[in-house]
Amino acid sequence: MDDNKIKIPRHIAIICDGNGRWAKKKGFPRTFGHRAGTKPIESITKKCFELGVEVLTFYVFSTENWSRSDEKVNFLMKIFGEFFIKLRSKAGENIRVKHIGTTNNLSSELINEIRKTENLTENNSGMILNIALNYGGRSEIANAAKNMMYDIDGGNLNAYKINEELISNYMFASGLPDVDLIIRTSGEMRISNFLLWQSAKAKLWFTNDP
Ligand code: IPE
Ligand code: IPE
Ligand code: MG
Repeated sequence: MDDNKIKIPRHIAIICDGNGRWAKKKGFPRTFGHRAGTKPIESITKKCFELGVEVLTFYVFSTENWSRSDEKVNFLMKIFGEFFIKLRSKAGENIRVKHIGTTNNLSSELINEIRKTENLTENNSGMILNIALNYGGRSEIANAAKNMMYDIDGGNLNAYKINEELISNYMFASGLPDVDLIIRTSGEMRISNFLLWQSAKAKLWFTNDP
């Protein structure tokens, strides 16, 4: 192998954090930072696509983030709806957009926008862009365990067949390579329940304060 050749991670996962503090620092309301946060997602996606990254995952809303005030949550949900509409442009760029997380508590309008974007891009094969919205790593593992038990009960799975690969296939986004690199913006050094199963061997990178 050519040692000078840069090894491109197959799966990069980014925890999008610090938007509120970034805006405050600039003298804007926190919501300005949340809206502005969708722009770098697009430019990073473009760059990763050019570099040949296979999967790029952005964490934009955790299952714990519901503890924020209704007003804050509603604003974020509005932005996410607009963002999924914007992501339809990926249909022409060979990028497949997927939602990971549950649809529990999401509005039917938002679910509709998500599904439309997923359907429109489902045949694209250049790169997978996962948006982790209403996502929690523990809930994903619990959900996988539940579905395995259903399959065992229904006679479709033999408990002796359970191994790491099979468990991976019960995760929200099955069949994806493990995460090679997790990046968290904002200066906070924590994982916040993100891709707990898939990041077992991931490298971690934390950027400085916003
Ligand atoms: C990150 O922005 C995006 C979400 C969690 C929705 P924050 O709202 O967490 O902004 P900071 O981290 O407080 O600056
Ligand atoms: C949530 O981060 C994950 C996302 C940034 C989507 P935390 O649970 O740490 O929430 P805040 O940003 O610190 O409030
Ligand atoms: Mg935060």
